Amino acid sequence: MRRYDLALIGFGGVNRALAELIAERGDELADELGFALRVVAITDLRAGSLVDVEGIDLAPLLATGPGELAFAGMEGGNADPRNEWVIREVPADIVAEATFTNPADGEPAVSHVRWALEAGKHVCTTNKGPVALRGRELKELAVRHGVSIEFEGAVLSGTPVLRTAERLLSGLRITGVEGIMNGTSNFILGRVEDGADFEAAVKEAQDLGYAEADPTADVEGHDVQLKVMILANEVLGADLRPEDVFREGISGITAEDIKDAVDKGLRWKLVGSATRRSDGGVDARVAPMALPADHPLAGIAGPLNAVAFRTDLLGTVTVSGPGAGRIETAYALLSDIIAIHQRHANDAAASSGHVVEEALHG
Ligand code: HSE
Repeated sequence: MRRYDLALIGFGGVNRALAELIAERGDELADELGFALRVVAITDLRAGSLVDVEGIDLAPLLATGPGELAFAGMEGGNADPRNEWVIREVPADIVAEATFTNPADGEPAVSHVRWALEAGKHVCTTNKGPVALRGRELKELAVRHGVSIEFEGAVLSGTPVLRTAERLLSGLRITGVEGIMNGTSNFILGRVEDGADFEAAVKEAQDLGYAEADPTADVEGHDVQLKVMILANEVLGADLRPEDVFREGISGITAEDIKDAVDKGLRWKLVGSATRRSDGGVDARVAPMALPADHPLAGIAGPLNAVAFRTDLLGTVTVSGPGAGRIETAYALLSDIIAIHQRHANDAAASSGHVVEEALHG
């Protein structure tokens, strides 16, 4: 059976949930999917731990000695050279990148992904920045090194939006996408509809773990702007930069606006969209819209998200599901690993996973 060794870069909620998933369901997944997974390296910003590395000399990495398995002092936003060592040198097949990353420049995730691809390793990342801001360059790098970069978790966590477009809608002409792509803002709008105060609803979304570290990114539409760029670039073949996507958040919507809309049978939603123009270009925007009740996105409530694809032969096809959450996003990484296996199962074992000779169980 084939086995993929994983380096987990960033050990916050998402990669921790992936490690737990592998520990709890590894055998079941191996039976179902035909490959095994093993974690060979973990790096982390806060705990600074690096554990469970078989046959690898950790000494150069450990600031406080192997007893504590720790290297502290990695700074958010900076690509740490010790991470570079792990990504380039630890013989993992797949680098699972889920670090706290600055959405404005995509760092340190962009560097992590670049190092992994340059080292001939497959990458899956949950970060939007590398894909939205450097997607073209990183995909070219992957092709040059004969490996894959996968990023289902960048849009709607594990809800399979990108893979639906790539696989299930292949053969159709997709003319546009429109979606509710931020759980925090959708939750806040719903709570204010129910009579809650805006600030209290923001706090509630933070307590529930939906919001970004700085909820401004959720409330002001920056988070959706990156997701719209990814969809436009991946699904509509555009090459958008942030300044190409009009952005307006929900902070200008008052409780009165929301009440007036409800009285008229409308619901305010923060809608991200990208539409192919007749000249081949793509118009993309993020803005609050008061949607009529029969609109496919009007019923998407609370932290749920949805993306509607406009197609030539099927009309509108809508995918909805969770847009955030540690387990949901960890599943995105698992689905990326499955995609990597499907794309590379026939590659030489040396460059795509190990062939485990012995039976794994029994
Ligand atoms: N803060 C985001 C949301 C999480 O609320 O949807 C995933 O990007």
